[in-house]
Amino acid sequence: MATNKSQSMTYSLDIEKIRRDFPILRREISDGKPLVYLDNAATSQTPVQVIADITRFYRDHNANIHRGVHTLSIEATELHESARRKIARFFNAPTSDECIFTSGTTESINLVAHAWGRQHLKKGDRVVITEIEHHSNIVPWQILRDEVGIELKYIPMLSDGTLDMDYASDLITTNTKLVAVTAMSNALGNITEISAVVDLAKKAGALVLLDGAQSAPHLKTDIQQLDIDFFACSAHKMLGPTGIGLLWAKMEHLTTMKPLMGGGDMILTVSMENSTWADIPAKFEAGTPNIAGAIGFGAACDYLTNVGMENIRNHEMQITQYAIDKLQRIERVRIFGPLDSKKRGGVISFNIEGIHPHDVGQVLDSDGIAIRTGHHCAQPIMSALNVPATARASFYLYNTEKEVDKLTEALNTVIEYFG
Ligand code: ALA
Repeated sequence: MATNKSQSMTYSLDIEKIRRDFPILRREISDGKPLVYLDNAATSQTPVQVIADITRFYRDHNANIHRGVHTLSIEATELHESARRKIARFFNAPTSDECIFTSGTTESINLVAHAWGRQHLKKGDRVVITEIEHHSNIVPWQILRDEVGIELKYIPMLSDGTLDMDYASDLITTNTKLVAVTAMSNALGNITEISAVVDLAKKAGALVLLDGAQSAPHLKTDIQQLDIDFFACSAHKMLGPTGIGLLWAKMEHLTTMKPLMGGGDMILTVSMENSTWADIPAKFEAGTPNIAGAIGFGAACDYLTNVGMENIRNHEMQITQYAIDKLQRIERVRIFGPLDSKKRGGVISFNIEGIHPHDVGQVLDSDGIAIRTGHHCAQPIMSALNVPATARASFYLYNTEKEVDKLTEALNTVIEYFG
């Protein structure tokens, strides 16, 4: 799939071939305008290969798992567990037993906060997060703080949205038990210097949770190399279905964690008096799981592996830099975050002076262009930037320079329209 294709610049991907895998990209919006989908940080589109695996499951193999001796149940169980193995390989997890299926990043982080946090954190213990976190990596820790009395501290962001690592080194002290940080900001696209954060945490004897919701779809993730303790991500941002995600954790932590939810499939024995737990990962997967979702997640990992994560990263750096350079030429546009695409993923938050981002988003939609506007579930960033909201364009492997051109042309129209 890796070829040189574009005439105007060297892409490492055959974008036109990739685009043919995504039927939705042929949709038209607002009276025949071709869809320009630039809201990939919210959710990505789904290729036919992933849709086919999900459909095949419902068509040919649908049954509950881990429960039946009949053929369909055995097939469904094998498809589900084979997806777990694919996902473990994709992230280079030491074993697929450490990969817990959740409904997504939010549930994964809540599982750590409540199942690990309640067990291991006590009043006065410090948890360090950052000012650039998504609400899903803030609110669970605030809930725990109010319940247990932990001390919750934030690494602040600098004016370009990158983390103040000098401040971080003072903050991550020996009473810090956990550092929970995003690998890539969903609102600004900044890529975190994970190794620097991990070094500080290890020196203090703290564990590290990495929120990979935004990074996993775009950057190669090697869990073992990162030397972290917990990793969370969602399938729907990486070409998979909604409602399924991953919590990876070191077995030593999973062993000490109590299950968060009780029910079927997570027990070994149940009597009227008490229960004992199933082996990990089942201990954390109560109830009938999202079987088709897991299969789709595995198929998405296959798709990304076939394209090549390095090719995807190179493509996104090129298109992001192209977009930054073009946006900078539009008077009144203010871009947030670093201007060098090596320091960010394919996410560009911006505002047009004097025009509310929601108005920008609505006018773009009438041109078939989908972006996200609002606080992006990252209100502390908005406060730090002193803006109520931003407009955000976010790219993925199927986006093209031509689509960036359409975005900038439409922004010029927005400026003319609102004056
Ligand atoms: N977290 C998703 C976003 O940034 C929904 O848009």
